[in-house]
Amino acid sequence: LNPPQKALSGQDKHSFGYSTLSTRLPVIVSKIVDDVYRSYHSLSDSDPFKKEKEQEAKKIIELIGGLRYELQRDKPFRPLTDKREDVEEWNQALATYYPTSSWYKASWLFSECYLYRRIKEAFALTEHWKDYDPFFQQKRTVFKSSQKAVVSMAVQLTTPVVPGTKLSVLDLKVQEGPDSKGTRDAFFEMVQVSLWGNATDLSLLDNPDLEKVEELQKRMLSSSTSSNASSANASPAASTVHLDQLGVVKNPEEHASELEKHADKILSNDSELLWSKVKSLRNGRVDIILDNAGFELYVDFVIADYLIRAGFASEIVFHAKRIPWFVSDVMPADFQWTLDQLHHPQPSSSDSSSSSPYFFNPSDPIEQQALLALGQKWQSYVDKGTWKIVSHEFWTSCYSFYHLPTHPSTQDLFESMRQSDLWIFKGDLNYRKLVYDCKWPTTTPFTEAIGPLGQGEKNEKAEGVPTLVSFRTCKADVVVGLAEGVEAKMDQIEPNWMVNGEYAVISVSP
Ligand code: F6P
Ligand code: MG
Repeated sequence: LNPPQKALSGQDKHSFGYSTLSTRLPVIVSKIVDDVYRSYHSLSDSDPFKKEKEQEAKKIIELIGGLRYELQRDKPFRPLTDKREDVEEWNQALATYYPTSSWYKASWLFSECYLYRRIKEAFALTEHWKDYDPFFQQKRTVFKSSQKAVVSMAVQLTTPVVPGTKLSVLDLKVQEGPDSKGTRDAFFEMVQVSLWGNATDLSLLDNPDLEKVEELQKRMLSSSTSSNASSANASPAASTVHLDQLGVVKNPEEHASELEKHADKILSNDSELLWSKVKSLRNGRVDIILDNAGFELYVDFVIADYLIRAGFASEIVFHAKRIPWFVSDVMPADFQWTLDQLHHPQPSSSDSSSSSPYFFNPSDPIEQQALLALGQKWQSYVDKGTWKIVSHEFWTSCYSFYHLPTHPSTQDLFESMRQSDLWIFKGDLNYRKLVYDCKWPTTTPFTEAIGPLGQGEKNEKAEGVPTLVSFRTCKADVVVGLAEGVEAKMDQIEPNWMVNGEYAVISVSP
């Protein structure tokens, strides 16, 4: 915890760190109280542990209320008291680096991670709630509100477009091989979808306005996968699926101007560099360090599917969080749950009140079929081990990714990840941890800002780190890799450009 530059901190009243600590996190914490309250009030009378569960829930509510109080009054940090395997490491870090510190005095990154770990403590201290995810209902609601975009993409990805064959638009694009124009075009579209899928995370939308979520997704799909601006809205039936929906046949001028408009929002874009790496892979291994559940995870599946179908990868390793983290981050259970929603038409017990047997309930049978086909295909990747979901305590520790190669408790993780050909880091928090959440000048090269991971052969401890890329929409007051003059220009255009999620970077360390 010795950052190479001044760390971002809540002490700066003009920072996003300050407004996160003072405004956003108290709301997030309050919602947990509401969620637990709702959950224990809906316990069934026939539940043999109802009494104990109620008592424990009241205890959780009390602890979470206390946590909110400590945060709002900037009380000193205290050691953790539960029995999770990471407790000792956390308490050691607190004692060593922050013995007398508090929420606003410590680095923003540490305070925010500590908050989610303290939330976990309140549940970990119980018998009946220790695996409970207080953010699950929010993840579920927002994923459901993503139906139009989810269905629209499923139809585009699965519907046969050539009579007498089973070939979808994507199959057509990649069937001519890794060096073909189609495969290349599809790659750039996948990258855009994967990047902008990060715009709708739940911790930024402290009050998720579902219409806003839908609007963001509509914008994203219309500018990255289709020349038809209303594609995500139109719930296209099979008959309306044309080759232009993945850019195969498209008015070239219109397509170019769309991409250009969108490309303006990517302030540093290494996707050509990424493509040169990806196209050299044959049956490689790609690791995706996941960010958010819901729509973002769905589009992560889409790009993972592309890498397999195009023959670049034969193994995708998805890294998830072990504890509820930054509201919407993927846990292993979210991963399987998401697949289940696509290919299980039977109601699960929690869905029994719903009138439709489907989580998503498009009325068009072709759309239902598309979801089912995609869900089955992706489930078969998991069953065959082509896709793996793993998790490690490191991703929810207080450490930045500078520590990945050398930290004593990450050796197993690092050894495994070194077998990979490409690491894809998704989202804002992963970016913050890559660059150690510091006040870097915006023109600092990305490879410099990520420390050992960017030093290749020059740093023997980090030897074997493959090419890595970060797909990140900007939601914190740090960004690197910009050309001279971009910061000044952006300050003129939009004062909140670093934090409002409207701008992005695709940064590669070769
Ligand atoms: O709350 C702070 C923060 O890290 C922001 O920087 C960002 O808005 C959010 O949490 C997490 O974003 P993401 O899901 O993209 O990592
Ligand atoms: Mg997240």
